[in-house]
Amino acid sequence: MTTITNFFLLFIFIFIFLSQTTSLSKGCHPEDERALLQIKKEFNNPSLLSSWIPHTDCCNFKWSGVACSSLTNDRVTDLSISNNIHITSHFPSSIGNLPCLQTLFIYNLPNLTGPIPQSIIKLTNLIYLTISETGVTGPIPKFTDKFKNLVELDLSHNNIIGTLPPSLYKLPSLSGILFNNNNLSGSIPSSYGYFNSSHVSTLDLSYNNLSGKLPISLAMLDIYVLELAYNNFEGDASMLFGSYKKTLVIDISGNRFAFDFGRVDLSHTIATLDVSHNKIYGNFPMAMENVTFLNVSYNKLCGEIPKLGYFNTFDVSSFVHNKCLCGSPLPSCK
Ligand SMILES: *[C@@H]1O[C@H](CO)[C@@H](O)[C@H](O)[C@H]1NC(C)=O
Ligand SMILES: *[C@@H]1O[C@H](CO)[C@@H](O)[C@H](O)[C@H]1NC(C)=O
Ligand SMILES: *[C@@H]1O[C@H](CO)[C@@H](O)[C@H](O)[C@H]1NC(C)=O
Ligand SMILES: *[C@@H]1O[C@H](CO)[C@@H](O)[C@H](O)[C@H]1NC(C)=O
Ligand SMILES: *[C@@H]1O[C@H](CO)[C@@H](O)[C@H](O)[C@H]1NC(C)=O
Ligand SMILES: *[C@@H]1O[C@H](CO)[C@@H](O)[C@H](O)[C@H]1NC(C)=O
Repeated sequence: MTTITNFFLLFIFIFIFLSQTTSLSKGCHPEDERALLQIKKEFNNPSLLSSWIPHTDCCNFKWSGVACSSLTNDRVTDLSISNNIHITSHFPSSIGNLPCLQTLFIYNLPNLTGPIPQSIIKLTNLIYLTISETGVTGPIPKFTDKFKNLVELDLSHNNIIGTLPPSLYKLPSLSGILFNNNNLSGSIPSSYGYFNSSHVSTLDLSYNNLSGKLPISLAMLDIYVLELAYNNFEGDASMLFGSYKKTLVIDISGNRFAFDFGRVDLSHTIATLDVSHNKIYGNFPMAMENVTFLNVSYNKLCGEIPKLGYFNTFDVSSFVHNKCLCGSPLPSCK
């Protein structure tokens, strides 16, 4: 090869190299920049977001809490704003103008108030949505089955009011649903029995103001972790159990459930079982030898405490205040 062609090849390589690297660092998409600056404004320009400066690159970790992905042509995919008491505003409705967002993490912003804006349902590429430990109120937004990638929906520890959205079971990838520690009311929709057990793993509705009887359809609900503690539920909860289920944790404490505990059909996998503070009667069910945490206190149980599995590790507080339970660690049966 001649020197001329060598030089020519070198130029081609340099050209390809330069065009590659510039395409890798195209930087912030103008629509994302506009949306983020509007979000900053709606947050009342907090000092936490002082790195969000117009005409600078919002990608490449230059704007705090913002990340882009080359897989989405450098569009903003992650937004994380957390642990700040100085953000004093309503939830910015411009959040709906970041169409490629996959992770939204809004955490521990106690002075963030107002409802979750309806515009959030435009973010149909979301995979992880966390809005937790904020002052946010108003209802749960109406997520539709267009949220085909949503895996985790964590709206815990806010002041959310209203009822549970019945159509949630249609979300085709949902795994974790955390609505605990809010002010939700009404009953559990019967559609919640249709949560797809091949992907839904956790449902936490504890510490709300939910009430009424559980729908019988929950007999079909087969998930790892079910938390209904400290609501106003009543009636039967035995349909939550089932020897064929993969349940690890059931916590129904602090309600007004009333059913025969002795007739419950426990799953072979259950490890944590808290039914304390209800009106549950009868004796202990079969198949409790794999339970490692148990609390049946403050119910109406009767009869002898079994001596199997981990029962010798449970202390008095797991059994106190029942109708007529007896045997270790309570006084012996006569
Ligand atoms: C934010 O909330 C805290 C209580 O969590 C309060 O003490 C503080 O004054 C509030 N800050 C602002 C800037 O309003
Ligand atoms: C919960 O919401 C109800 C209205 O639905 C309201 O009356 C009540 O004060 C709220 N409770 C709390 C603790 O915010
Ligand atoms: C449940 O989810 C699996 C995998 O995500 C899917 O293949 C199946 O069709 C779903 N079942 C129903 C009844 O939607
Ligand atoms: C629970 O909801 C009822 C109305 O359904 C309301 O009167 C009550 O204040 C709520 N309780 C709490 C602790 O928010
Ligand atoms: C306890 O766990 C073992 C091992 O996983 C299992 O073989 C057994 O069936 C379980 N027992 C009960 C009563 O669930
Ligand atoms: C069981 O529940 C009661 C009532 O809430 C509580 O006082 C006690 O500490 C609990 N015991 C255990 C071992 O968790």
